[in-house]
Amino acid sequence: MKPSLIVHGGAWDIPEEAFEACKEGCGRALEAGWCVLSRGGPALDAVEAAIVELEDAPVFDAGTGSHLNLDGRVECDAIVMDGASLRAGAVACVHRIRNPIRLARAVLERAPHMMLVGEGAERFAAEHGIAQCDPKELITEAELAAWLRCRNDKHAAKYHRGHEQGTVGAVAMDREGRLIAGTSTGGTCCKLPGRVGDSPLIGCGCYADAEAGGVSCTGWGEAIMKIVMAKAAADLLRGCAIADEASGMRAAREAVKVLAERGRGTGGLILLDREGGPAFAFNTPHMAYGYVAGDGTFVTGV
Ligand code: GLY
Repeated sequence: MKPSLIVHGGAWDIPEEAFEACKEGCGRALEAGWCVLSRGGPALDAVEAAIVELEDAPVFDAGTGSHLNLDGRVECDAIVMDGASLRAGAVACVHRIRNPIRLARAVLERAPHMMLVGEGAERFAAEHGIAQCDPKELITEAELAAWLRCRNDKHAAKYHRGHEQGTVGAVAMDREGRLIAGTSTGGTCCKLPGRVGDSPLIGCGCYADAEAGGVSCTGWGEAIMKIVMAKAAADLLRGCAIADEASGMRAAREAVKVLAERGRGTGGLILLDREGGPAFAFNTPHMAYGYVAGDGTFVTGV
């Protein structure tokens, strides 16, 4: 089977000065994931490699550069899902994990459960050799400045919406037809400590079913959770008699339409259909995305 890869760096009001950094970040993620897939490697390795690049890019809200919670701490969530087994590995509210997607993968492969949070997740990381860091290392100057500004402004919630949605994700299909989706986020700026959004929740921020497709979402978590957006998009893909470019785009747009109309929210998603066809949609001013086109070229945009 021909491998496929699509990534995103969040649907948000990306300022023009961040366009290049967003496109570069998505480009590096494609390179990392494609390096695995083009050599015949597994989709799980490709999704992990792509998301590690996105987590390490400070322009995105995941890993290093995550938004700070009300206490001024980074609190990350991540998930990875296997479209063959329908098993997921997810973590939430972790503070000292540089690459939460690596921990999500460890949960997928080595835990008897599908989701671990907080202290338990970090203990699991220590027991399974997942690198931990000083939580301060994940805080960037830009996010510290944003947190100080937002914390002192009682209207912050209103303009947070444009500032906060740089969640990252990837969906990959390998030569064997294995389909994997993953999502990672620092959540929303000045969120209450302990808040968990859509990203690590199976069906909300991520879903993969080899019989339908794989989806990774981004945007306002509380609205995405209301409509279980990733599963909604996967169900739309399942309903398509033929998986082609038009049906993938239709499913992506329809799910985002439901987000707007029923969830009253903003955001976006990327997907691969069951044949590996890429599609995406968003209702924010911009979304950072990248995919590998049919001729093997990397396409990135905001
Ligand atoms: N979509 C990311 C979040 O709301 O946490």
